[in-house]
Amino acid sequence: MKKHATIINDFINDAFDLKIHLTKFLPIKSEDLEQFLENAKMELANSHPGDGLIDCEDFYKEIVGDKHLADLAAWHIKSKDYIASTLELQQRYSKNLVLDFGGGIGTHALANAMSDSVEHVFFVDINQTNRDFVGFRAKQLGLTNKISFYKSIKETNIDKFDSIVCLDVLEHLPDPSSQLNIFYEIMKEDSVALLNWYFYRGEKNEYPFHIDDPLIINNFFLTLQSKFIEIFHPMLITTRAYKKGKSIR
Ligand SMILES: C[S@@+](CC[C@H](N)C(=O)[O-])C[C@H]1O[C@@H](n2cnc3c(N)ncnc32)[C@H](O)[C@@H]1O
Repeated sequence: MKKHATIINDFINDAFDLKIHLTKFLPIKSEDLEQFLENAKMELANSHPGDGLIDCEDFYKEIVGDKHLADLAAWHIKSKDYIASTLELQQRYSKNLVLDFGGGIGTHALANAMSDSVEHVFFVDINQTNRDFVGFRAKQLGLTNKISFYKSIKETNIDKFDSIVCLDVLEHLPDPSSQLNIFYEIMKEDSVALLNWYFYRGEKNEYPFHIDDPLIINNFFLTLQSKFIEIFHPMLITTRAYKKGKSIR
């Protein structure tokens, strides 16, 4: 297992071999990779069918294909200092059994699997391509004994997690408040959840898949503020740390 500082440096250097993993996993030549990453954000936005989409899970399960993977890879490479700060934050809190909900390309899950403080990472993502890609990455990085893959939290068969990581996922869910209630139920009294959200579709509709309904957002904050207590941390990032609070609802 690696020291925490080494994990951060390895991420800053090459995002844990992300580009190599992409060219090995996807049918893409290394000379085409930069263009593939450059186009990723708008390719993903343009693949969204708009208001005609009946079940929003279909978008993440079926429609996105490898587009979400490309979009996330481009973002993690471009914003590596910011992502590194989120890794530093998770190093403060991750221990024992960790749930990474909506784990994407696996940056946070793999970093947690590299940590001595973590016994096992449960990577949950609705998208099969993402699960397969992170499974492939775990193998390449020699981490298969520390991480396993699921399409739902129920499938993990774990009653309580010590840490939860759920970054940039809540705005993708039809009812983010009910996801908070699920997190509350699977946390111990001393568990910590790292959460962020971005309930905004973007100036140019770059994120047509984000929830921005004021009533849904209102309900989300009511649940958050009545069930959880924020733990202050000094990092200048959107991710917040929470422990369970005494419910007043
Ligand atoms: C914007 S990405 C964030 C990925 C990663 N957490 C990160 O910070 O880079 C959102 C992820 O949530 C996943 N997702 C969307 N709906 C989900 C659901 N209902 N259950 C589990 N994962 C879901 C998507 O497949 C995608 O990988």
